[in-house]
Amino acid sequence: MKAAVLHEIGADKLDVRDDIASSPVTDGKVKIRIKATGVCHSDLSAMNGTIPCPVPAVLGHEGAGEVIEVGAGVKSLAVGDHVVVCWSPQCGHCKDCVNGKPHLCMTYMMDAFMDAHFTMGGEPIFGMAGAGTFAEELIVPEDGAIKIDADVPFDVASLVGCGVMTGAGAVMNASKVQPGSSVLVIGCGGVGISAIQAAKICGAAKIVAVDMVDQKLEWAKQFGATHAVKPEDLSATSLALTGGAGFDYAFEVVGRSDTIRTAYDNTKRGGTTVIVGVGRAEDMVSFSAFELFYNEKNLRGTYYGSANIRRDFPLLLDLWRSGQLDLEGMITRRLNLEQINDAFAAMQSGEVIRQVITFD
Ligand SMILES: NC(=O)c1ccc[n+]([C@@H]2O[C@H](COP(=O)([O-])OP(=O)(O)OC[C@H]3O[C@@H](n4cnc5c(N)ncnc54)[C@H](O)[C@@H]3O)[C@@H](O)[C@H]2O)c1
Ligand SMILES: [Zn+2]
Ligand SMILES: [Zn+2]
Repeated sequence: MKAAVLHEIGADKLDVRDDIASSPVTDGKVKIRIKATGVCHSDLSAMNGTIPCPVPAVLGHEGAGEVIEVGAGVKSLAVGDHVVVCWSPQCGHCKDCVNGKPHLCMTYMMDAFMDAHFTMGGEPIFGMAGAGTFAEELIVPEDGAIKIDADVPFDVASLVGCGVMTGAGAVMNASKVQPGSSVLVIGCGGVGISAIQAAKICGAAKIVAVDMVDQKLEWAKQFGATHAVKPEDLSATSLALTGGAGFDYAFEVVGRSDTIRTAYDNTKRGGTTVIVGVGRAEDMVSFSAFELFYNEKNLRGTYYGSANIRRDFPLLLDLWRSGQLDLEGMITRRLNLEQINDAFAAMQSGEVIRQVITFD
């Protein structure tokens, strides 16, 4: 089958080839025919070494498709089911799962580095984050595929597998944005736009979007931002809207130390700063020992939108169905797998929100 492969960390292009196969379906696993996969910034981050990824690997982690084979012991899925792929499966039984933090489940974490579930020219190769949705077929554990209603279009469903879950979950799960509050979102890609939409759903009164790209600011307003500004205009906007006190909630959705610092600085005393972006391990952020005490801000990260995927994937699709979450509108470009490297270029130049690759 066809798949897009990263051969080495630091490579600026993926190799689209047709000699990839998926390994046999073993106990507890399912095989999915991928129908649509979104292109997330984290794919680019796997290429440039920001996010650890064993190589060679099939990239892609935001996908949806149809179950075509089930291994022995699989109970919750059957051939023909439509599913969203989850890149951080939740086992349902470990301490984190039963303590209400299933997104922190480690049960499958090492599989990404141990279980090479594809072959390339007969040799085993990995899938990004245990997934690898830039392929026509994919094998995941039963817990890594969440069944959805068959009438949800695959392109819409694919976005829920990463970007939308992460951005909306940062707002709804990690910080629980309150009605009437003020919200700052720095970075308006697929994840940031999802955070903006969720802030509106939660009833935020002021939603300020920040990005360097004019088109992104236009989109941010279309998706619910009440104000959209360039980074250099944030201080004046904060002064006008919050009297300079800062926002109740600030979301960093870029993955850089300077924007993390900006998000913290623009959070009000006692407010919440949420780090959604994934930055490099060596990119250090500094805080003074005094400010952390004095400002009493809640500074936290969010992994996969702090999701309970079995609850949240259907919840997000219900919001989509009710017209409150616009997922079709976020797909600003559709392509095929051969165009994957163009997709990364378009993402970096800021001309798209989300791009979706479809397979016939
Ligand atoms: N926390 C998680 O579990 C999780 C999951 C998925 C993605 N992510 C991360 O979220 C981040 C966003 O992902 P995406 O797919 O939306 O990326 P994207 O590339 O589509 O969007 C990033 C946006 O940030 C803007 N930007 C860049 N530098 C900026 C700056 N200095 N100030 C303001 N805006 C700036 C870009 O113009 C772009 O619009 C990435 O770091 C990604 O790895 C995290
Ligand atoms: Zn678990
Ligand atoms: Zn992602």
